[in-house]
Amino acid sequence: MAAGAVAAATALLVLAAAVSGLPAINVTTMAFDEGYAPLFGHDNILRSADGRTVSLLLDRSTGSGFISSSMYHHGLFSASIKLPSDYTAGVVVAFYTSNGDVFEKRHDELDFEFLGNIRGKPWRVQTNLYGNGSVGRGREERYLLPFDPTTEFHRYSILWTPAAVAFYVDDVPVREVRRSPAMGGDFPSKPMSLYATVWDASTWATAGGRYRVNYRYGPFVASFTDLALVGCRADDPIRMVAGGGVCGGGGGGGREEEVVARLRASDVAVMTVEKLQAMRRFREQNMVYSYCYDTRRYPAALPECDVLESERRRFKDTGRLRFAMRRRGPRRGSSRGGGGGRAVRSAAASRAVAAAKKRAADM
Ligand SMILES: *[C@@H]1O[C@H](CO)[C@@H](O)[C@H](O)[C@H]1NC(C)=O
Ligand SMILES: *[C@@H]1O[C@H](CO)[C@@H](O)[C@H](O)[C@H]1NC(C)=O
Repeated sequence: MAAGAVAAATALLVLAAAVSGLPAINVTTMAFDEGYAPLFGHDNILRSADGRTVSLLLDRSTGSGFISSSMYHHGLFSASIKLPSDYTAGVVVAFYTSNGDVFEKRHDELDFEFLGNIRGKPWRVQTNLYGNGSVGRGREERYLLPFDPTTEFHRYSILWTPAAVAFYVDDVPVREVRRSPAMGGDFPSKPMSLYATVWDASTWATAGGRYRVNYRYGPFVASFTDLALVGCRADDPIRMVAGGGVCGGGGGGGREEEVVARLRASDVAVMTVEKLQAMRRFREQNMVYSYCYDTRRYPAALPECDVLESERRRFKDTGRLRFAMRRRGPRRGSSRGGGGGRAVRSAAASRAVAAAKKRAADM
């Protein structure tokens, strides 16, 4: 009964997402070998025959990941992703940019992190950014998705220009961080690589580590397709930090200023009124945590925060939602906030506990 309600609500929300009315993100996609290389867990990286889809597996032996073959100094990093289904507690799929390997102590990073869950409870998505080693100042936001991310591919994109960072889910911008002078070095500014990984985050990903990865439900498979990298390819990232370099990339190359100007003028980078409205709607309906409203952590909101009174009312001083997320469904009566979800959780939780005990006993 509760599971049915969840399924029905999900089905309706898929429809809602399909009619966003925004222009589709229009990028040229490429084969895996054209822009990426395996990073770790090589045996757990499976490519489709046409080389355009890659599946990353997490099993008892290892997780896996890939990395872009080049670094980029501003760009659009995009892929259509299908997440592992069923019981995925403790599993994290990450799609992010970073330069931690090159600039260890002052690295930059832009994250999409997908946090798995116990059966019957949805994946959550987290976005975050760091600049110049600002690891003491996390800027996390979390959202539920208005569709089931395990049944079909959906496009996730990170846009990074010198003026702003935007995270997109399909055609909808879900977060925009405009660079403000007060952010200083916290705004990413040095060339970054794109990473995609699946890994075991048992210690924190689901209910703060209460539910660990259960490998009886593995292997956990995250698939990536419609891969796209657009922007300024930084063949010499160290030199390019100063700006004014030359971007590699054949037809897409050229002087850095020109390539970045083209990126900033592209459809995906221009924030129209329609896109702003869609972003507000998405956030009203799906955001469940924001560091901007977490006044226990940041008594004074960080400088880039757009503290909207209409949003603030919905959050507690922990940055978490004041009330359980209400999902509109075709059967209104059966979709009561967290009620149904809780029933699902306790059933799945007891199964998980039983499975964990069995595993412990087996060892
Ligand atoms: C997508 O972009 C290409 C070139 O970048 C252009 O030729 C094409 O018309 C665009 N398609 C749409 C639907 O905007
Ligand atoms: C980045 O950090 C380094 C050392 O921590 C500092 O010297 C530099 O000024 C910072 N850069 C910016 C843009 O804040």
